[in-house]
Formats: sequence, C-alpha cells, structure tokens
Amino acid sequence: MTSGHDIPPGTVSLADYEALARTRMGENAWAYIAGGSADELTMRWNREAFDRIRLEGRVLREMTGATTQVELLGLTLPYPILVAPVAFQRLVHPDGEIAAALGASALGAAMVVSTLASFTIEDIARAATAPLWFQLYMHYDRGFTRTLVQRAEAAGYRALVVTVDASVSGLRNRQQRAGFRLPEDIAAVNLADLPQPAKPPLGPGESPIFRGMLDGAATWRDIATLVASTRLPVLLKGIIAPDDARAALDCGVAGLIVSNHGGRTLDTLPASIDALPRIADTVGGRVPLLLDGGIRRGTDVLKALAFGARAVLIGRPCVYGLTVAGGAGVAHVLSLLRAEFEMAMALTGCASVADIDPAAIWSDDRPLHS
Ligand code: FNR
Ligand code: LAC
Repeated sequence: MTSGHDIPPGTVSLADYEALARTRMGENAWAYIAGGSADELTMRWNREAFDRIRLEGRVLREMTGATTQVELLGLTLPYPILVAPVAFQRLVHPDGEIAAALGASALGAAMVVSTLASFTIEDIARAATAPLWFQLYMHYDRGFTRTLVQRAEAAGYRALVVTVDASVSGLRNRQQRAGFRLPEDIAAVNLADLPQPAKPPLGPGESPIFRGMLDGAATWRDIATLVASTRLPVLLKGIIAPDDARAALDCGVAGLIVSNHGGRTLDTLPASIDALPRIADTVGGRVPLLLDGGIRRGTDVLKALAFGARAVLIGRPCVYGLTVAGGAGVAHVLSLLRAEFEMAMALTGCASVADIDPAAIWSDDRPLHS
C-alpha cells in the first residue's frame, strides 16, 4: 500500500500504471484486483478482442470545433469515459473511494460507486463534485436494498447501476491460491446494518450454491419493481445476451452496460466488445449502451463507440492510478485516456462522438470499388 502522490517520470500509459501498481501492491491485493475467474480466459479475451480490431484512418476532414462531449441520461459529460464500480478501494490507498472520487471529479468524470465501497455512500458524495452513480447489488433482504437506494437518492447520486451478472461470485482461483483475505480494518461499510438471514442447515445432498447464495437472488420482477419505485434512471450492468437486453427493455431500464465484469464472474463469456454489436442491434438505440472490460487505450474507447456504445467505463486502470498516486493518479489515468481518445478521433476524422460509427473500423470485406 502507498499513500504517495508522486507520479514517476515516464508514466505515460495505462500499461505503465499497471506495471507500477504491481510493484507497489501486496500479493493479497494484487490477486484480488488484477485477477479474473477460473482460467482468466474472458479477462484475456477482453484485451485480445480490442487488439484484433483495426481502425480506418481518415485524413483532411474538417475538424474545426471538434469535441468529445456526450449526453448521457440527463448529464452532459466532457468525454465518454466513466469510472467503473470497484469494491474495497482502501485495499490500495488509505483514502480509497474518497481519493478516487476527488481524482475523477478533477477530470469531470462521472464515477460509479460500488455497494461494496470501503467508505460510506454519504462520505463519497461529500467529496465528489462530478456526478456519481450508485452501483447496487440487490440483497435477499428487499427492505435493506430499498434503504440503500434511498440513501443514494438522498445523497444526490444521479443513477442506479444494478449489477446482475454476479448472483454468485466468480470462481476466483487466483485469489484462492494467494489465500486472499480482506484485511480486518477494511469492510463493506454500507452493508454494516444488513440483517444476517437465518440459514437452516443444508439437507443431505443440497447444494450450498443453489440453496445458499441464490436463495432470494433478484429476478426480472425485482428490476421492474425497482424501476417503478425510484426516480433515478436504472441501468443494468453485466448484460451479454441479446435476449436479456430485450427483457431489460421490457422492465423499463434507462440504459445497459455490456460487461462481463472484467472477466471476474463466468469464465469463457465472450469479450464484451464482441458481445456489443448484437446487443446494439437488439436495442436499436432505444436506450444508451455503455461498455466495460479491457479498455486500456483511447483507440479502445473509439472502437467501443464505433460498435454502438455511448460511453465506456474503466475498472482496474483507475485502481492502479489510485495505488500509485492517489486521486492524482486516477486523474492522470483519465487524462491520458482522454488525450489518446482525442488523438484517435483526430486521426479517424471524427469531429464529435456522433461521427464515430462503423466506418471508423477497418474491414477487409468492403468492396474494392465503393
Ligand atoms: C470490480 N467490478 C465490480 N463491479 C461491480 O458492479 N461492483 C463491484 O463491487 C465490483 N468490484 C470490482 C472489484 C475489482 C477489484 C475489479 C477489478 C472489478 C467490475 C468492474 O466494475 C468492471 O466491470 C471491470 O473492472 C471492467 O473491466 P476492466 O476495465 O477492469 O478491464
Ligand atoms: C468483484 C465483486 C465485488 O468483482 O463485484 O470482486
């Protein structure tokens, strides 16, 4: 752990932050943050899929007045990059989510705060000046879940992001091998009052997964109820299947986050960027789509927008920035990515985010004479 604020010279890319964070983080935190589930195939594919996509550079287009500004669920954001929800950020910095919120705010970036944050919903809201969204894990205790939503509403959060792809936590073999344990002084403080359910002992042959963790897990009905009971826009995070996107629209959600949880839940899900086109086709522009998973370069942001995302979220790289230099590191990570994205727009001839479409993607299949 470090509380230093110095960004070493030569730190010029998100990969540099990852390499630095690796040297400054204990094995315990590293296994939790850098790892994925099982064989970590999905985590690897998230990156490989972006690397395989080629861009079609365009030259000499009119770029006067170029802007990265984007409208998203009632917000005007200076650029389409948000900070993804990440649990327990005090693992890497004593000021955890507070420092992250200050860093994101310095760059005008919206941040999604995890239900499992290591500071309270209210304390993080007091630190932030840019918009915050609240990431909700629905709990078997519906009354408690309702209280969390009301706290987020009262603290001024601007949207609810319900994460739906982790009804059981992933198979975290890397964490198991490292013997990962949350240090005693770090906790999911917003769940301090969550009532512990009375759990009748398992009968012979009963599965602790089906009987234990999934008892009372949320279903589509809970999403429809939530949408009807809050004034905040509700997004679902963790959508990969087009049929689920359709069901989500039927529940009245305001947006979808195409995500495989950074490869941390079901291993061998496709890369999120590979899942995006089919979801975009199904949704047909009725609600905005966001995407996360493996975004490490401004060109990745442009690729996600070209395939139909309105904005992207960044997970691990922000944590690496936080590890290296606190809020200043988070701000620097965001500023690097923003500058790279502007460069990618300039060199593909896109003067606004609305100009970024599939034409920005190189295709060998285009007719020779078009
Ligand atoms: C996460 N993610 C996550 N998602 C969520 O909805 N609630 C959470 O509490 C967490 N916690 C969490 C912890 C850590 C250490 C990581 C790395 C990730 C998933 C996160 O929001 C996002 O989907 C991925 O991190 C995106 O992939 P990249 O950018 O890390 O490749
Ligand atoms: C994770 C959970 C907290 O990815 O979402 O570790």
